[in-house]
Amino acid sequence: MLDKFVMQHGHRKDALLEILHYAQEIYGYLDKDILTHISNSLNLPTSHVYGVATFYNFFKLKKPGSHIVTFCLGTACFVKGVEEIITAVENEFNVKRGETRADGKLSVFITRCIGACAMAPNAIVDNVVIGKATPEIVIDKIRSVLGEEKVEAN
Ligand code: FES
Repeated sequence: MLDKFVMQHGHRKDALLEILHYAQEIYGYLDKDILTHISNSLNLPTSHVYGVATFYNFFKLKKPGSHIVTFCLGTACFVKGVEEIITAVENEFNVKRGETRADGKLSVFITRCIGACAMAPNAIVDNVVIGKATPEIVIDKIRSVLGEEKVEAN
């Protein structure tokens, strides 16, 4: 599919951004193999393709976990305490922002304003937006998508 798309764009170097977008759409991320393939297809240096892909936050350069939680770190969400929720999730699930948990089941990403400031702070768990989020609500939602039970302290 990617090769066909590149061909439809006549292997034009100036179509690089569109091609990167399309590749991410079909693979979900852009790893080294995909970027190298694109650079070969467009006859561009790999360093150039990698440079463009890393310049834009939109592109994911690693395969994400099977479940994804994204936090809005725009001004409204920041002011309403999203940082506290992110830290709680990092501690609860042993995964740092921008990374994927060792078992590959959960990734935590950060984005900027998602246009729902009135509902701040916002989190997105597997494409479901959680407005007026709290650490408890987000952690419960993540547990439910992961199929994990809450471990009660004795
Ligand atoms: S700042 Fe988070 S939705 Fe606008």
